[in-house]
Amino acid sequence: MSKHDSTPKFPDSYLGNNSLDYDSSIWMERNQKKTTLLCLQYLYDERLDNLEKSDFLKDEPSFILDLGCGTGYSTEILVERGFKVVGIDVLHDMISKVKHKKNLMTNQNNLELILADINYLPLRNSSISHAISISAYNFITHRAESIRDKVKIAHNTAKNLHKMLKPDGRVIIEFYPKDDNELEMFASSFNTNGFNGFIVKQNPNQKSGQTFLLLKKR
Ligand SMILES: C[S@@+](CC[C@H](N)C(=O)[O-])C[C@H]1O[C@@H](n2cnc3c(N)ncnc32)[C@H](O)[C@@H]1O
Repeated sequence: MSKHDSTPKFPDSYLGNNSLDYDSSIWMERNQKKTTLLCLQYLYDERLDNLEKSDFLKDEPSFILDLGCGTGYSTEILVERGFKVVGIDVLHDMISKVKHKKNLMTNQNNLELILADINYLPLRNSSISHAISISAYNFITHRAESIRDKVKIAHNTAKNLHKMLKPDGRVIIEFYPKDDNELEMFASSFNTNGFNGFIVKQNPNQKSGQTFLLLKKR
């Protein structure tokens, strides 16, 4: 199996030399940036406009969270597009590389980086306009020892995200659920904690393939 096909393991795939390989991979950079642009399209998706109020883009430039920002491929695109970005990652080996990239940015004041766990975000209530997460969200349950623990973590995280988002805040999550049960667990964690939204699959016939959750705070 080629390196590109192998499923990443958290945290090993992102520690030490693996974090260096990740950060120097042209394929990964292209892939993450392409997905970030797709997530931005979904952020403005009309189907979310049609859910209740549709005035969410009035107060641009918006504060946007990049959940699991890694070495900053997605973050760079968001900063370039004029967002004020808060990049969050739980691994020093990954987020430290964004710190170097930040020093080279012309608009570096638009980027804050926080070493933190998505499950315990240190942010004030109603402080964030929107959030995206690319290829990171399914790792939030990696410590769970039972299905029950997984469900609890997913629900608590959705509840916290809901609190820190401003009214009408949107969340776009791109991830690779391992099966329909895992997808259903994450989708219902948002649905029962104050979000409306849609699931978009790149290939609807593929159970574990690339999946997007398009969410809006109720
Ligand atoms: C595929 S990588 C990063 C992708 C990122 N979008 C980019 O452009 O580089 C996934 C990242 O999620 C982070 N991550 C996994 N679980 C996390 C958690 N619970 N809290 C914060 N970050 C987490 C990992 O440390 C890793 O850097």
